[in-house]
Amino acid sequence: MDYDATDIAVTYDRGRDHGPEFLNLWMNEVSSHVKDQRIKVILDLGCGTGRFSEALAVRFDAEVIGIDPSKKMLEQARGKQHDRRIRYELGRGESIPVPDNSVDLIFMSMIFHHFDNPMLAARECRRVLREGATAFLRAGTRERIRSYPYVDFFPESRPILEERLPTNTFVREVFEAAGFRTATLEVVTQEIAQSYAAYAEKLSAGADSVLASLSRRDFDAGMRALRAHAAHSEGEAVFEPIDVFVFR
Ligand SMILES: C[S@@+](CC[C@H](N)C(=O)[O-])C[C@H]1O[C@@H](n2cnc3c(N)ncnc32)[C@H](O)[C@@H]1O
Repeated sequence: MDYDATDIAVTYDRGRDHGPEFLNLWMNEVSSHVKDQRIKVILDLGCGTGRFSEALAVRFDAEVIGIDPSKKMLEQARGKQHDRRIRYELGRGESIPVPDNSVDLIFMSMIFHHFDNPMLAARECRRVLREGATAFLRAGTRERIRSYPYVDFFPESRPILEERLPTNTFVREVFEAAGFRTATLEVVTQEIAQSYAAYAEKLSAGADSVLASLSRRDFDAGMRALRAHAAHSEGEAVFEPIDVFVFR
């Protein structure tokens, strides 16, 4: 998907920034899979607005190369950059602008379903990673659709998710065909809002590419249903399952 053809970049962080605890959860998760590995260079592939880039640099005290094909997303990332260990560059998974065997860890978040050619992207990951190093992928998959918290409120999102999201098996097969071994497959449940009212506020930002594909009418109807639910579920936190793949 071409994010530059949308206005998602401007509102992305409002919709997807889930705070320090969320980042901590994911940095702990990544760390637990790279124990005893030397991590000096991290590739944040499809980094978008750099939602994870700074946390990666800090947690691993490493250089982070954030690559994304969207100028608008990178502009947001650069606009809030504090850490000098991060470098943002235009590029895509299918042609990563990084030398062979030069990366100690590849971090990928919510980009697999955006690859135009997943096979090529996985081969590129294999090329740039040092021998034995790790590719960590967090993704949405078809198997999880029924558990995604917005689907019941936006029923028209279901067929779009079915069409766009890969199956768990497909993700695994793509990376294994590119020469990786699957070290871990798991589901991590993350809190994405402290209440349904807060969740509605986040979704109203329009930062989700699937919800952004709905007609105005369907989106508004979903927001009304969600807000009505929020009015009766005060203090109920919202959780989302994320598929985690660790490849070596
Ligand atoms: C849902 S955002 C995820 C951004 C970031 N990884 C995060 O989790 O916040 C998807 C990102 O994938 C990028 N993208 C689209 N096609 C891509 C490709 N072929 N290779 C790498 N990134 C791509 C988009 O520009 C967008 O920034």
